[in-house]
Amino acid sequence: MPQPDGTRKPKQEPKPKAIKTEPKLESWSSKAAPAPTKPAGSDEAFIGQIGEMAERNEAAEPGACAPEALGSGALVREKRRPALDLRGKLYLAPLTTVGNLPFRRVCKGLGADVTCGEMAMATNLLQGQVSEWALLRRHPSEDIFGVQLAGSGAENLGKAAQLIEEHMHVDFVDINMGCPIDVVCNKGCGAQLATRHTKVQGIVRTMSELLSCPLTLKMRTGYDMNTPTAHRLIPKLCGWGAAALTLHGRSRQQRYSKSADWTYISQCASGMSHDVPLIGNGDVFSYEDVDQALQGGVTTVMLARGALVKPWLFTEIKERRHWDISANERLEILQRFTRYGLEHWGTDELGVARCRNFMLEWLSFLHRYVPVGLLERLPARLQDRPPRFVGRNDLETLMASPNADDWVKITELLLGPVPASFEFTPKHKANAYSDPNAAAAQAAPAAQG
Ligand SMILES: Cc1cc2nc3c(=O)[nH]c(=O)nc-3n(C[C@H](O)[C@H](O)[C@H](O)COP(=O)(O)O)c2cc1C
Repeated sequence: MPQPDGTRKPKQEPKPKAIKTEPKLESWSSKAAPAPTKPAGSDEAFIGQIGEMAERNEAAEPGACAPEALGSGALVREKRRPALDLRGKLYLAPLTTVGNLPFRRVCKGLGADVTCGEMAMATNLLQGQVSEWALLRRHPSEDIFGVQLAGSGAENLGKAAQLIEEHMHVDFVDINMGCPIDVVCNKGCGAQLATRHTKVQGIVRTMSELLSCPLTLKMRTGYDMNTPTAHRLIPKLCGWGAAALTLHGRSRQQRYSKSADWTYISQCASGMSHDVPLIGNGDVFSYEDVDQALQGGVTTVMLARGALVKPWLFTEIKERRHWDISANERLEILQRFTRYGLEHWGTDELGVARCRNFMLEWLSFLHRYVPVGLLERLPARLQDRPPRFVGRNDLETLMASPNADDWVKITELLLGPVPASFEFTPKHKANAYSDPNAAAAQAAPAAQG
């Protein structure tokens, strides 16, 4: 994988606060709970701003966001739009719930270059839902940061784009055309949207005129397992104004089962014009996978479950090695997440509870890691259910446990004891494996995206 070239595109708005130097990690066994502070996410000014945005949106005439309503200013803005240079940059996928700001911050520290907020529904943003706007928040360390929107038409997505244009500082806006879950597809959003080319055309043309930053789209190979259609949509998207495209090598029907189809991704890449980057996505778990993907013609890769199971994958790829990371080093990464999480959600009871829940969601992926040093006797791919194994020490064994009660114990090392009645059930079914059990997982509501 080429090293990042270090170039930065010019910012049009004031830079976010300077990146803080990360203090050195304390020993994982230090359990001292910090004194309660106000959660960063409860910033009153932010909430007030959202209220104003929602009010203004309600007052706006229907169609007020249409490009023709903007006059020539829209064209001037389009000319100024910066390019999105993704060559040699590793992209951390948008990940609902688990791709929260503290997790992304951890990944930035481990080598992620491009980050994206969790999928936000345009309709919820337009209603001024504070929790939805919170999905778009950026940490100062996220120096190439985009937000992802899901919607079904140019009207809502255009209005949401306009609010983002006026109130946020982002480097790109991505449209979700890959989310497979019924509740999203039934509204004409996510993977369903990709089946309606005329709608997509209206959306891409409207949004790319409204935004001064690049507009990107993330899609799957198609809707049905046996009928890939992305190769027909991709040239159209490039012509309508997309600045970059991400292709996840699975169909909507497949969700997360079977391997991603990299042959098809390469075919799509070879048919692309060179000025629109194609980001390949699916089952990237090592630097060798990245090498293969780049040989297939994609501009770069997006990492999703690979980053959840081993967030140090970014480092491995950049340093071209397999890191036989120790359990202590892994716990230190969790400790970093704890510190960022408490900073973000607050150190009061609610903040600690949120931090714990998000950590547990992450642990539902993280426990799948099989240490490199044990791989010889435990041949395993990350997409398969790992065999139960005894680690090289008690902590390594605990961290490999598929039992949610053990994940709770890990959070107790970092956040103190849980209340007596505490229970945890993972939210995401995308942590299912590509084995026969995956059929059952497909029947259950799966993760978004
Ligand atoms: C827990 C989870 C949450 C996801 N959330 C989103 C999302 O919000 N938006 C999106 O476009 N894709 C989402 N995805 C899909 C991923 O971005 C990615 O396309 C997919 O997992 C395939 O990559 P992988 O094989 O590297 O995991 C999600 C996937 C997972 C596992």
